[in-house]
Amino acid sequence: MKDIREQFLADLAKAGTPRDVEEVRVRYLGRKGSITTLAKTTDFSKLSPDEKRQFGQQLNDLKRLAEEEIARAAEAVKDMAGRASQAKTAPKLDLTVPGTGHSVGCLHPITLVQMELERIFQGMGFMVLTGPEVEVEHYNFDSLNIPSDHPARDMQDTFWLTNGMLMRTHTSANQVRALERFGAPMRAIFPGRCFRYEAIDASHENTFYQLEGLLVDRGISVANLIAVMKALLSQVFHRDVTVRLRPGFFPFVEPGFELDLQCVLCGGQGCSTCGDGWIELIPCGLVHPRVLEYGGIDTSVFSGFAFGLGLTRLAMMKFGVPDIRLFNSGDVRFYEQFPAAV
Ligand code: DAH
Repeated sequence: MKDIREQFLADLAKAGTPRDVEEVRVRYLGRKGSITTLAKTTDFSKLSPDEKRQFGQQLNDLKRLAEEEIARAAEAVKDMAGRASQAKTAPKLDLTVPGTGHSVGCLHPITLVQMELERIFQGMGFMVLTGPEVEVEHYNFDSLNIPSDHPARDMQDTFWLTNGMLMRTHTSANQVRALERFGAPMRAIFPGRCFRYEAIDASHENTFYQLEGLLVDRGISVANLIAVMKALLSQVFHRDVTVRLRPGFFPFVEPGFELDLQCVLCGGQGCSTCGDGWIELIPCGLVHPRVLEYGGIDTSVFSGFAFGLGLTRLAMMKFGVPDIRLFNSGDVRFYEQFPAAV
C-alpha cells in the first residue's frame, strides 16, 4: 500500500493536463486500477479481525487520499489550462518588465542658432526669407557683380549641374531675387544651406549654413551697418560687444569689410580661441550700386548694406564645437547634447 501511495503521488505530480489527471485516476481508481485491484484481490479471510480492521482502514484512507488529490489536481490543471488559453487571446501584461523610455529628440545646433538669430532680426523688423538651393548662375554670380571672367569666381569652388545650374555657393544669391520681388525699402535675412567643392577637414565642409542679411532704404550708411551688427552680436553673446571693421573685398559690396568681434572670452587680451584678441566674424559692406540696379532699385534714392554670417561657424563658436564634420555626421551622441527647444 505504501508503494502504491508513493507511486500514485509521483504520477499525479507529473500530470500537467486534465487528460493526464484522468489517466492517473483510471490507473489507480478505475475498474482495473491498482487501488481497486488491491481491494478486490486481498483475501480478507486470511487476516485476523485486528489486521482486517487495520488493513481496511488504511485502504479507505488511501482511496480517500487518492480521490481528494485527484480532485485537487483536476482543479489545478483546469485553472492552468484556462489561463493558458486566456493568455493566447488577452494581451500579455508583465508589470515587472522595465519600461521603455521615450526620447524627445533635440534640435540641431545649427537650427538652434538659426532660430535665435531669426528672433533677433524679426525684432528689428527683418523678414525671414528663403531661396532655392539649386540656383541659376545669374543670381549666384552675375547679378552680384561677379561676371564669368571675374577672378572672384575662383574663390568659390562650385558644384555645377549638367543643365548649367549650380548648387548655390552662398546665400548672397537671395539678394537680387528679394530686391526684384519686394523692391525698396526692404529688410530681410536669408538663412540657408550652401555648397562648395571643398576638401573636407575639421574646419571645411562641402555643405554648410550661412545667414545673409540685406537692408535697403533711404540714406543707409556704414553707421547703420555697424549699429545693426552690434545690436545683433550683443544679443547673441548676452553682453556689450566691441567690433572693428577692416577692409575686405567682395564684388557685390562697396566698400566691403570684414567685421571682427573683440574676443568675448579674453576681452581682447589674446587667448587660444582668438589669437590676437579679435575674431573675424561677419563679412559685410554697402550694397554695390550695380547689384541694386540688377534688382531694379533706383540708386539715386536708395542705398543699403548686406552681410553674410557663417551660421555653421557661429554655432561652432557658441557651443565650442571643435570639428565642423560633426554637424553632418548623423552621430546621435553629438546631437543629444543640445536642448530640445530654446
Ligand atoms: N557671400 C560671401 C561668401 O559667402 C559672404 C558675404 C560677404 C556676404 C559680404 C555679404 C557681404 O552679404 O556683404 O563668402
